[in-house]
Amino acid sequence: MKIARPAAIAAILIAILGWSPSAPAGEGASATSANGEEQQDRDSNAQCLACHSEAGLANPPRPDMHLEGLANHLISAERFEKSVHGEEACKDCHGESYVKYPHEANSRYQIKMCPECHKSAGRKKLAEFQQTLHYKNHPHNFSCVSCHNPHTLQKAKQLGSAKKLIAQDNGMCLDCHDSDQRFAQFTTRARPNLVEVHKWQPNPELHWKSVRCIDCHTPATDGSGTSHLILGKDKAERDCVACHSATSSLRTRLYRYFAAQGQIEEAGFLNGAVLSEAYVVGATRNALLDKATWVITALLLAGLAVHGLLRVVAGRLRKGRK
Ligand code: HEC
Ligand code: HEC
Ligand code: HEC
Ligand code: HEC
Ligand code: HEC
Ligand code: HEC
Ligand code: HEC
Repeated sequence: MKIARPAAIAAILIAILGWSPSAPAGEGASATSANGEEQQDRDSNAQCLACHSEAGLANPPRPDMHLEGLANHLISAERFEKSVHGEEACKDCHGESYVKYPHEANSRYQIKMCPECHKSAGRKKLAEFQQTLHYKNHPHNFSCVSCHNPHTLQKAKQLGSAKKLIAQDNGMCLDCHDSDQRFAQFTTRARPNLVEVHKWQPNPELHWKSVRCIDCHTPATDGSGTSHLILGKDKAERDCVACHSATSSLRTRLYRYFAAQGQIEEAGFLNGAVLSEAYVVGATRNALLDKATWVITALLLAGLAVHGLLRVVAGRLRKGRK
């Protein structure tokens, strides 16, 4: 029994380590690949990029290429390498059949969908996405890639600032919601004029530079991920205080990625991470200044009271003398 115990513990440990999807990277299994494999990926990507780049278009590596077709299918190697998928091989997503040129006619159907690698997060997002009008009204042509470009997508840490994250995330929505042409690819309904529908808020365009569409158009989560349930006009956030207050929801939404920048909170500022990026009326306040304001107000009131009291006493004295 005594000998069996450590063995059992070890077995349990191995089971846990072996079976748990090792951190988020486990969702895309190849993230942990060894250096050799990374080099191989880079070499095989270079083969695709030899054609699928400005350089490939200018100097076609083969004489028999359909250049007009290629011109619509260029990938920026620089942006790809900086993206969340920069260490992936093109063929991990696209399949082996694209290695040959001319590409096989049905290669397109071999492209891996996001949830095939992003198993738990991807399925959760898929389930939420399927409840939106985007999917319900357009099940055949609206998908994850309508918003996410897998070749350029970057995450908050890579972007490094709230302003850049806002630009990337709002860019996804504005791509359609600010383009009649793109919107019309989906519906004959007139595109709602964004400034008109957001008139209930002062200066909506300024807000869109400092806050994301999804910060109002998705339900709040526990801060662990982005809900993909887009809320329509009845349920979208319209409460100013949700953001403009000491308990601003922006802390668990937009600014959750930048919590590490919150050191200035030590100097007495509320929502330091927010303050380091923007001035949000009501949310970015200094607790010391707040206290100082109370002290000054109290002193002022005390001064007024003493002044009033002295006047009353002086008045009585004067009356008494008469
Ligand atoms: C020899 C040049 C060449 C190489 C190498 C090449 N491609 Fe292509 N690819 C093309 C051209 C040209 C087109 C345009 C097709 C057309 O319109 O005929 C194309 C089209 C595509 C398309 C869009 C068409 C579709 O079916 O959706 C994808 C995706 C693609 N290539 C992926 C890849 C990947 C991934 C690799 C590397 C594994 C790769 N290609 C390697 C030349 C190449
Ligand atoms: C994380 C998965 C993923 C990786 C990695 C990836 N792609 Fe793609 N790619 C896709 C998906 C999904 C589509 C389909 C987009 C659509 O249907 O609109 C696509 C579309 C394309 C297209 C055709 C449409 C377009 O945008 O022009 C080309 C060309 C292409 N990829 C080339 C590449 C090359 C070259 C690489 C490597 C440098 C690569 N891809 C890496 C997922 C990926
Ligand atoms: C071939 C597997 C594969 C496919 C298919 C794939 N990814 Fe990824 N993805 C990865 C890997 C590996 C990483 C890097 C590890 C990480 O950061 O989780 C990653 C990272 C990400 C990240 C950043 C990490 C995070 O959770 O914030 C996002 C966002 C993302 N992928 C979105 C997508 C989307 C959207 C699609 C579909 C268009 C997609 N991926 C398709 C493998 C894949
Ligand atoms: C501060 C919160 C907030 C932000 C930020 C915000 N919205 Fe809205 N949005 C709302 C509210 C609330 C409504 C409902 C207005 C009404 O009709 O009463 C709305 C309405 C809409 C509608 C019309 C919905 C319908 O059912 O007709 C669209 C489309 C929309 N928003 C898209 C966007 C996009 C795209 C962005 C980013 C550029 C964005 N919103 C940013 C709160 C917001
Ligand atoms: C309507 C646009 C839209 C669609 C459709 C969409 N996403 Fe997203 N997704 C976003 C935005 C905006 C973010 C937020 C922030 C970021 O990471 O840049 C995001 C974030 C993510 C992340 C990063 C992790 C997180 O929780 O923030 C993953 C993974 C992801 N989406 C996967 C998917 C998958 C899988 C699908 C398809 C089932 C999908 N998305 C469809 C807009 C969209
Ligand atoms: C690929 C194009 C496209 C993208 C990207 C896109 N939308 Fe939409 N959106 C549409 C279309 C088209 C409709 C109208 C749907 C209909 O009525 O059939 C719509 C409808 C909406 C509505 C009203 C739906 C409702 O439930 O009342 C809101 C709100 C909205 N979008 C917000 C967003 C936000 C926020 C983003 C970014 C995270 C986004 N959209 C990205 C095309 C897009
Ligand atoms: C989703 C969060 C959010 C909501 C909801 C919201 N705001 Fe804001 N608001 C912000 C942020 C972030 C800024 C900071 C802009 C900047 O960077 O200076 C801002 C800035 C402002 C400003 C300063 C604009 C300027 O000209 O400098 C005013 C005024 C304002 N908001 C009023 C409101 C009112 C009134 C409402 C409700 C009708 C509201 N906001 C709802 C996030 C929000």
